Amino acid sequence: MPSKQNLSLPSFLYGTAWKEGHTAALTEQALRVGFRGIDTANQRKHYFEAGVGEALAAAYRSGIVTRADLFLQTKFTYQRGQDHRLPYDPKAKLSEQVTQSMASSLEHLGTDYVDSYVLHGPSSGYGWTKDDSEVWEAMVQERDAGRARVLGVSNVSLLHLQQMEALHLELPVFVQNRCFAVQGWDRDVRGFCREHKITYQGFSLLTANVEVLRHPLIGGIAMQASATPMQVIFAFSQKVGMLPLTGTTSAEHMHQDLVSLNHAGLDQVLTPNAVDAIESLAG
Ligand SMILES: NC(=O)c1ccc[n+]([C@@H]2O[C@H](COP(=O)([O-])OP(=O)(O)OC[C@H]3O[C@@H](n4cnc5c(N)ncnc54)[C@H](OP(=O)(O)O)[C@@H]3O)[C@@H](O)[C@H]2O)c1
Repeated sequence: MPSKQNLSLPSFLYGTAWKEGHTAALTEQALRVGFRGIDTANQRKHYFEAGVGEALAAAYRSGIVTRADLFLQTKFTYQRGQDHRLPYDPKAKLSEQVTQSMASSLEHLGTDYVDSYVLHGPSSGYGWTKDDSEVWEAMVQERDAGRARVLGVSNVSLLHLQQMEALHLELPVFVQNRCFAVQGWDRDVRGFCREHKITYQGFSLLTANVEVLRHPLIGGIAMQASATPMQVIFAFSQKVGMLPLTGTTSAEHMHQDLVSLNHAGLDQVLTPNAVDAIESLAG
C-alpha cells in the first residue's frame, strides 16, 4: 500500500495549469527533459487533468519513466473555483464530492493512487470553516484508503494553518502558495511550515516577482554565477527550503529551471548572506 514512508520527493514540480490542448505534449516534454514531479488539479477551468494522464501513458509506453519514478499531485477544488465541468455531483455532500473528485482524478491519471492530494483552497479567505473540516476529513479518509500518500493545502494564510492546529486537525505535509517577494516570500506561512516540518511549495515565483527579477542584486548574482535571473530565483527558493513549481512552456526553460537547482556557479555565489539579502529584498 502506498505510504508517506516511501514518498520520493522531487526537487522541482512541473505545473500543468493553463495548457489546455498543449497539456499532454508539454507534460510529456517535461518528463523527457527530466521532471519527475507533476502538479495538476481536477479543475477543468484551469487544468486538463486527462491531458496529463495522456502524457503519462505516452511516457510509460516509450519507457521514459515508470509510475514508481513519479510524484503525482492533484487537487480537490470547491465548486466556486470550477466552471460547469465539475468532477462531482454538486448536490452531493462535500465529503462525497471529495470521493467523486478523487475517483475521477485517478481515472484521468491512469493510476490507483496519487502521491499528494491537495485542498486547492479553503472555502473562505478569512479563516478555516466547517466545510473545510468536512473536506479535510474526507481527504484524510482517501489517504487512509491508500488513494493518496500524503495531503496538502493550498492558498492558505497563517491563520488557516493556526486554526487547523487549534482544531487538532492533522496538519498537511505540503502547503502550496503563491509566493510574493514583497511579503518576505510568504515569510509567515513559511515560518509555520518550518516549525511543523511542512514542505512549502512555491508557485508564481517568477510571475509574482517581476520587479525582483530586474533588481541589481539578482542581476549581479546571475552574472557572477553565469546563470539567468530566473535561475537565481529558483536556486534561492531551494536554499530557503522551498519546493518550487514552474509551468514553463519552453523546452529550453524546462532545462534551465531544472539545472538551476544543481548549478555549481549558483551554489558558490548564493552564500548564506546572499540568500538573506534576497529574502528581505522586497519585504
Ligand atoms: N494552487 C494554486 O492555486 C495554483 C495557482 C497557480 C499555479 N499553480 C501551479 O503552479 C504552476 C506554475 O505556475 P506559476 O504561476 O508559477 O507560473 P507559470 O504559469 O509557470 O509561469 C511561469 C512563467 O515564467 C516563465 N519562465 C519559466 N522558466 C523560465 C526561465 N527559465 N526563463 C525565462 N522565463 C521562464 C514562463 O515563460 P515560458 O513559458 O516562456 O518559459 C512563464 O511565463 C502551475 O502550472 C500550477 O501547476 C497552482
